[in-house]
Amino acid sequence: MKFFTFKRFVFLIIVILVIIQFVPVERSNPPESAPLVAQKEVAHILKTSCYDCHSNQTVWPWYSNVAPVSWILIDHVKEGRRHLNFSNWNEYQGKKKLKKLDELIEEVEEGNMPLEGYLKLHKDAILSTETKEKLLDWAHSEMDSVSLD
Ligand code: HEC
Repeated sequence: MKFFTFKRFVFLIIVILVIIQFVPVERSNPPESAPLVAQKEVAHILKTSCYDCHSNQTVWPWYSNVAPVSWILIDHVKEGRRHLNFSNWNEYQGKKKLKKLDELIEEVEEGNMPLEGYLKLHKDAILSTETKEKLLDWAHSEMDSVSLD
C-alpha cells in the first residue's frame, strides 16, 4: 500500500490546521497615547479606510481568529502601525510629521493604500475621487501647520 494516499494527505492537512490554531498570537489594541484629532469628515475617512492597520482601534474580524489567515492579518497590522499610527499621531513632531504626511500623500495618490487585498473584503474602505481629494487636502493643510522649531 502506498503511504501517501489522498485520504492520508487530507487528514494530515486537517491535523496541521488544527495544530496551528494553538500557536500563540498577539492581537491587541493597546491604549492610544496621542490620537489624531481631525474634522469629522476627514476623521471618518481615515477611520473607515486606514484605522484597521494604522491605529490601535483595529476592528479584528472573525477570520483574524483563524490561523494561518490570522498570521498574515496580524503582520499587516503590526507593520502598518509601525509605519504610521494615528493613535500616536501627535507624537510625530516637526520633520517626522512632515515625512509621515508626505508618505501618506504619496501612498494615496499612487493608490497603494489601503492595501488591495483589504479592499476586496472592505468595500466601504475604497477611496472615491472625492474622499481621496478630501484626504489629500487635509494632508496638505496639516503639512502647512507643522512647526519646524
Ligand atoms: C490592510 C492594512 C492596511 C490598510 C487598511 C492601510 N494600510 Fe497603509 N500600510 C499597511 C502596511 C502593511 C504598510 C507597511 C508596508 C508597506 O509599505 O507596504 C503600510 C504603510 C503605509 C504608509 C507608509 C509608507 C512608507 O513609505 O513607509 C503610509 C503613509 C500608509 N500606509 C498610509 C495609509 C493610508 C492613508 C491608508 C488609508 C487610506 C492606509 N495606509 C490603509 C497596511 C495598511
